[in-house]
Amino acid sequence: MRTLLLLAALFGAATATATTATAQERAMPPTEPTGPKWSLAIHGGAGTLTRDDMTPEREAEYRAALQAALDAGAKVLADGGAALDAVQAVILRLEDDPKFNAGRGAVFTWDGGHELDASIMDGRDRAAGAIAGVTGVRHPILLARKVMEESPHVMLAGRGAEEFAAEHEIETMPPEWFGTDARREALERVKTEQVSALDVDIKFGTVGAVALDQTGNLAAGTSTGGMTGKRWSRIGDAPVIGAGTYADNRVCAVSATGWGEYFIRVGVAKAICDRGLLAGEDMQTASDTVMAEVKELGGDGGVIVVAPGGDAVFSFNTSGMYRGRATSGGVNEVAIYAGE
Ligand code: GLY
Repeated sequence: MRTLLLLAALFGAATATATTATAQERAMPPTEPTGPKWSLAIHGGAGTLTRDDMTPEREAEYRAALQAALDAGAKVLADGGAALDAVQAVILRLEDDPKFNAGRGAVFTWDGGHELDASIMDGRDRAAGAIAGVTGVRHPILLARKVMEESPHVMLAGRGAEEFAAEHEIETMPPEWFGTDARREALERVKTEQVSALDVDIKFGTVGAVALDQTGNLAAGTSTGGMTGKRWSRIGDAPVIGAGTYADNRVCAVSATGWGEYFIRVGVAKAICDRGLLAGEDMQTASDTVMAEVKELGGDGGVIVVAPGGDAVFSFNTSGMYRGRATSGGVNEVAIYAGE
């Protein structure tokens, strides 16, 4: 990815020096599209992702899944749709894809069930909705949005959230719809070999999206099954506004993926936005600084960030993060490993 950007920059520079612009050409609009800007970044989890762990076929499947989700969100934005709808369009796809740890394909709890967490936030007025420890809901992100738009609350959990889902006719699925053989094997390893979730989950699976729409609104959303073998109604950062998700039109939209306990302790998403708002840091600097803080405490993971100016930024302290970004300026790319 960096190589491509470098080549593009070099090519652009070479073109500029090889020609002399006429007065008419100088008056022409720049090649960067002048229409309203939009921008989108997505993730499908971060962690120990190396080329050695992947077959070419598996890698191609992940890249295709990320591209399909990116395209779904980019289409909403390019057509003039809302940032919230673009975030939702991305996450709906990833929640239905069993390769990712959210919705279908969510990891198993210790008791062999699935407890799903999700949140969404609107940068216009910082309205937010979150659900935690919910079972049976096909699309947790839709339930989080319902909480934001049709309840006076920000977060609902467990049975109460499920009652709210039923009242609002949110689609549910039977337990077997969520599980996969690989996730069940991971749970068995946690139980029989007494290894931790960190040993069986090669990545911290969570999915998320952040978007800037053509009217300048930002939004962020995150959805996850959490960690394999989680017990005692453990809840991670994904549904915690300010930790796993944050959006504020003044400064940024953030979605995180990683070892949730550390992201909650650092307040990752809000910390990144605050560094931009209060210290005037650019989003790459703010994200890298906060992720370094997570690392220092012992945590792993990553973030995606979109800024009001249209920058779409990644920052992660793991060997890989499933990710993608697209902008009105023509960026459209997906990547897995660090350094791509
Ligand atoms: N980041 C997801 C979790 O810790 O549950």
